Formats: sequence, C-alpha cells, structure tokens
Amino acid sequence: MSITKAVIPAAGLGTRFLPATKAVPKELLPVVDIPAIEYVVREAAAAGLSNVLLITGKTKGAILDHFDRAWDLEAVLAEKGDLDRLRAIRESAQLATIHAVRQAAPRGLGHAVLCAREHVGAEPFAVLLGDDLIDARTPVLASMISVRETMGGSVVALMRVPREQISLYGSAAADLVDDAVLPGPSPSSVFRLSNLVEKPSPEDAPSDFAIIGRYVLDPAVFDILDETPPGRGGEIQLTDALARLAEMPPELGGGLHGVLFDGRRYDTGDRLDYLKAVVRLAVDHPEIGTEFATWLAEFTGAL
Ligand code: G1P
Repeated sequence: MSITKAVIPAAGLGTRFLPATKAVPKELLPVVDIPAIEYVVREAAAAGLSNVLLITGKTKGAILDHFDRAWDLEAVLAEKGDLDRLRAIRESAQLATIHAVRQAAPRGLGHAVLCAREHVGAEPFAVLLGDDLIDARTPVLASMISVRETMGGSVVALMRVPREQISLYGSAAADLVDDAVLPGPSPSSVFRLSNLVEKPSPEDAPSDFAIIGRYVLDPAVFDILDETPPGRGGEIQLTDALARLAEMPPELGGGLHGVLFDGRRYDTGDRLDYLKAVVRLAVDHPEIGTEFATWLAEFTGAL
C-alpha cells in the first residue's frame, strides 16, 4: 500500500522560545522568509505525501491561515503586478491538502500521534516533527518509505550524536542490516532497532544513535499508543510505543528499522539551532545569499 498521509504534530507550547511565542505559534517563526513549518510540509510533499494532517491546539489557528488561500492579499499583489510574491503566497496553499485536528490536552507526542487515528485509518503513514528542519538535499523520508515498502514494519530516521547530547533524544540499540544500503544522492544505511529509551542519561543510553523527528509508522502503532501509560515527563511517549513495535512479530505490524541520516538538521525550537538554520539558509538564498555571505564573512572577521 503506498504512503500518502503525513502527520505533523504542531500543538507544542513553544516555551523554549518565549516571549516570541506568546501570541505567535512557534511553527510560524520565519527561517529567512518562510515559516519553519512550511519547510516541513514541503518535505512531505516532495516525498509524495500530499495529504497532511496537522495536530494543532488552541492559539494555533494562524498555521491553518498560512496554508489557506489569501484572496485579499492576492488581489492586492495582482493589482500591483507583484507576480513573484503572488506565486509565493499561492504556493503554500497548493503544496498539499491540509487537514487539522486538535489535541485537546498536552499529553505528549505519543498522544498527539494517537489524535491522527481517525484520519489515518488502517494505512501506514509518516510523522514529521515540526521542530526538526532537515536539509532538502538529503531526502531521508523517501529512503524511509522505501525501507517500509521492502521490509514492512515501521521506520525512524537516526543520527549519531555526541554521547553527552543523547539525553535530548530517543535512542536505540542498532544493528546494521548488511545488504540494505540504500541508493541515492547520499547513500544511507539501514539498521534493525531494539531497546528504545526516551531521553536516556549518557550512561544508560543504548547507543549514540538518536531518533530524529521523521517516522514511517505501521497503523499497529495506534492500538499500542492507546495502551501506552505516561512515561518520561509524565507524557505518553511515541518512543515507548516504538519500543513495543520493535518486539512485535511482522504479522502483527511489528518490526522497527532505522535509516541513518547524515545531512544537516536543525532543531528550530531551540534558539541557537534556529539561528544556525536562519544563517545557513540565508547564505543559500537565491536573492540575498551572496550579499549576506559577504556581509557575514566581514562580520565574523571583525569579531
Ligand atoms: C521528540 C521525541 C524524541 C526524538 C526528538 C527528535 O522529543 O520524543 O524521541 O528524539 O523528538 O527531535 P522532543 O524534541 O519533542 O522533546
């Protein structure tokens, strides 16, 4: 069954970015001139996931406005003949079909994914975390979908991190699947995963492989999430449900693999990483990149 649905949890309070996120959803903070969440929706669309479900909450209404047509603004730009901006504001409304469901209470990432159950039904689907911005030149989601299609079960994206940072992530023990090196511009490796732990201390971590915010999930995850008790931080953790999937037999939708991501990734919910993402993407920007890079070189030279 081909995968067409993407779920993007966007209900988080954005406390790490206060006061900027007091009235503005953190997902709409601009990375150069595009809101952070649009990069994630573009990534889903580029992987063929044209049906996007946003898990939102109170105060997140502006995210839906961003992906809707803005007829009044379009009329003004058309009148002025500003066709580039007109194209840009139309594009965000045409990337995918956007649906939304509200997570009534902040009960964790696992609970947010469970809110997608009715929309997703009995199909495999992808989950993309809005805070994780991934360089479009490394299409990890496409590799993950091909692993699901050939090996079944569920798939996560993995990144190696320094041991002292592992407590920011879910982690897993990972065994290389020898004959499953994926083709592509940036060849990735596939691992069989076990022993998953959410945000372990460096001493207790099963490995230095961190789960980053891209998942391709078997619908069996919903029954498991339904029974998963609150875990770390008193929240229902997706990682705890993945730990169960990893132990289940394939005929029940079990099995868990990881695809190694070796490109650039930023946590745009973190101030420092957000600034790094802005600078990197500004340097690559087709209109202002050259001028910005020249200024940046002068500025850093003067520090
Ligand atoms: C979530 C997941 C964690 C994963 C991380 C990736 O944590 O719970 O397993 O490693 O995303 O960004 P959060 O960053 O939402 O605390």
